[in-house]
Amino acid sequence: MRRGESAERSFWLAVLGLVRYRSVWVGARVSECARAGGCEIKTVRRFCQISHQLKASTMAAFQLFFPLLVSCAVASASPPRHHLPPCQVVQMDVFCSDLSLRSAPVNLPHGVQMLDLSRNQVQNLTQETLAYHTGFHHLNLHSNKIHFIQPGLFKDMTDLKVLDLSRNHLNVFAHSKINIGPLTAVESLDLSNNGLYTGMSDYFLADSPLLANLSLNSNSITKIAQNTFSGSLSLKKISLHNNVILEIEDGAFDSLHHLTELDLSKNSITCITDFNLYNLTVLNLSKNSMELFQSASSNQRYNLLYLDLSENKMPYFPFLPRSNVLKYLDVSRNHLQSINLSGSPEKRITVLLSHLKYLDMSYNQLKSIPESFFCLMGSLEVLNVSNNCIGSFSVTNEHLLTAVKIINLSYNSLQSLTFGENTLQSLEELFLQGNDLTTLDHQVFQRLPSIKYLQLQKNNLKICALEQDQDELAPTEENHKDPPDCVSFSSVRNLHFLYFSENNLQTLPENAFANTPLKLLDLSLNPGLDMDKDSLSGLEHSLVHLFLRENNISWLNTDLSLLKSLKHVDLSTNQLTSLPMWNKESSIESLNLQNNNLVTLEYRTMVALEHSLKTLYMGSNPLNCCSNLGFLHMVQRSAVVVPDIETVTCIHEDFSEPVNIEKLTEEMCRGSVRPKYIATVVLTLLTVMIVLGLLVKCCHSRKRKRNRSFRA
Ligand SMILES: *[C@@H]1O[C@H](CO)[C@@H](O)[C@H](O)[C@H]1NC(C)=O
Ligand SMILES: *[C@@H]1O[C@H](CO)[C@@H](O)[C@H](O)[C@H]1NC(C)=O
Ligand SMILES: *[C@@H]1O[C@H](CO)[C@@H](O)[C@H](O)[C@H]1NC(C)=O
Ligand SMILES: *[C@@H]1O[C@H](CO)[C@@H](O)[C@H](O)[C@H]1NC(C)=O
Ligand SMILES: *[C@@H]1O[C@H](CO)[C@@H](O)[C@H](O)[C@H]1NC(C)=O
Ligand SMILES: *[C@@H]1O[C@H](CO)[C@@H](O)[C@H](O)[C@H]1NC(C)=O
Repeated sequence: MRRGESAERSFWLAVLGLVRYRSVWVGARVSECARAGGCEIKTVRRFCQISHQLKASTMAAFQLFFPLLVSCAVASASPPRHHLPPCQVVQMDVFCSDLSLRSAPVNLPHGVQMLDLSRNQVQNLTQETLAYHTGFHHLNLHSNKIHFIQPGLFKDMTDLKVLDLSRNHLNVFAHSKINIGPLTAVESLDLSNNGLYTGMSDYFLADSPLLANLSLNSNSITKIAQNTFSGSLSLKKISLHNNVILEIEDGAFDSLHHLTELDLSKNSITCITDFNLYNLTVLNLSKNSMELFQSASSNQRYNLLYLDLSENKMPYFPFLPRSNVLKYLDVSRNHLQSINLSGSPEKRITVLLSHLKYLDMSYNQLKSIPESFFCLMGSLEVLNVSNNCIGSFSVTNEHLLTAVKIINLSYNSLQSLTFGENTLQSLEELFLQGNDLTTLDHQVFQRLPSIKYLQLQKNNLKICALEQDQDELAPTEENHKDPPDCVSFSSVRNLHFLYFSENNLQTLPENAFANTPLKLLDLSLNPGLDMDKDSLSGLEHSLVHLFLRENNISWLNTDLSLLKSLKHVDLSTNQLTSLPMWNKESSIESLNLQNNNLVTLEYRTMVALEHSLKTLYMGSNPLNCCSNLGFLHMVQRSAVVVPDIETVTCIHEDFSEPVNIEKLTEEMCRGSVRPKYIATVVLTLLTVMIVLGLLVKCCHSRKRKRNRSFRA
């Protein structure tokens, strides 16, 4: 049996490089799995015993190393030769991280409880390395080069609860097939990133009676054998994330009666059949190659709360335990094509998921979801079915999905969406972006009393005017009036956020949002959008964010200054030639005017904006330099932040290239009147000089006369 094991080990060693190319192996395992059910977590009522052989090897190791221990003890008696490196001592905790140490400082304070020796150069972990202290509660040795541990080192550390040996070279130690001896008191052990492969963990776990939390993350383990955890029966949590596990032997976890969390994510497991770990609360099988998840057909209650099956290859909805309390189920990024519960290959018993709150089925290939599917899950709060191929979605029974708060149907191919009277009364957030919706029952959102957040971007919907609704609501003479082909947003009593970009929306009628307390309205990327001048009326006191990006608007005929709460406006990438009017009451804090056709910014508007405006985007506009000195002042005074100032340029007749606004000075604008100014100056100077000249000449002649008279 031993020989077989080592043969298997060397086989796996040889293929470790290959194994990373999972697809190669997965293909091989799939068929095997189907034939033999080779990878199972299954109860076999056989109590695993601690291998006598392992015990014997521990003893041998002790005998071998006893002389060494003695000599170490003698060495410790000699006075310390080294100075205490700059470790930090905080009460009973010593922090010596990242100091290139090969061992702990010899003069560790007495009674030290926590020693952090992480990120050093420790190679041999012995009593000497730890300065002969045994009273540690917590030893942090991660990121060293440990490739040898003195057997029995932890035997007398009866307070040692947390041992972190991650990021070392313990595979080298495991090669020597020596057992590290008992982990007498250790409750939490981290062996992640140690290059360990199948069977190697045995040398660390054989005698760890109190171990509750074990991490073997990021090693190269390919198989969990039946006896892997037989020396650590107190385990509560095992993390095996990022290994290459292909096989789990029958009963490998059976004797772990306290096991509640098992992380097997990022491995190569292809199927789980007869899953029966009743005490488990968290099972993570994300990022494997799972094609099948099947619980044992038992009526015993499972405690499982979280099941993560995301990023696998399952064509069918998992076979969940009949008696369950599951709250969270993630089957996103699989190959689900239908959840037709009877269409699966084996006869399936319908399983109630009455505790389920979160269901993620996004990124699959679902074409439809029968309404009856939701009968099973009365507590559901979050449903994510985005990124599938669903063409039609309907909830007509008012007793279904009564607790659901979030439905994510984004990026499907929805053409129809039906919510019956009194359905989805708790729904707060609905994501419908990236579908093919062209028509909806025009009062569909009025029927959702809690709806707060609505994403409808990337569809082909039209927005109704208020009248159209009222016509529809009021009993009219014409009985067979066609319902409008638009969707109404008036009187959606709790709607605060509406995203309606990229809908090819041509017109926004007046009073479109009457009695709807919108805080955010995104109408971007509807080029050519014609907004009625009263289209936003009713939003005067609620609207805070307005996005009208890339709408090819050349003139905004809606008076934004009436929107008293408006703080953030995006008008970038349009054809605006002038600013919308704003008066002193404006509360705009950020304004994006990038990429428009603005030549002149009206000085009065800029002054009105100045008292509230904090951020202004202005790049890529054909501004005229000298007619926007008011704006220049604003920028120079740092009254507003212009994050894109590098791209704010203006056109100046003296320069062939646009001038960056930061380089512009007022003098440059006075410069344009220079010729006239110079002429005047020259002229004045000339006149003065002539007058002076005349005066001088005049005086001179008088002087001469006077001189002459003197002489006379
Ligand atoms: C570690 O111990 C081994 C023997 O177990 C010895 O050969 C080696 O020299 C030691 N290395 C260091 C750095 O002390
Ligand atoms: C278990 O150990 C891991 C890694 O050492 C740690 O991150 C985690 O907090 C521990 N969990 C518990 C419950 O002790
Ligand atoms: C499962 O593991 C993946 C990958 O490590 C992680 O992203 C995910 O959050 C885990 N799921 C749960 C429910 O903890
Ligand atoms: C599915 O949607 C939920 C809620 O909207 C979200 O929390 C979750 O991250 C989404 N899933 C994926 C795979 O993005
Ligand atoms: C909806 O689901 C997609 C994944 O399918 C996710 O990326 C997106 O964030 C979800 N939306 C929300 C608001 O959670
Ligand atoms: C944008 O508007 C201009 C007229 O202002 C028009 O010539 C142009 O075709 C429009 N572009 C788009 C994409 O609608």
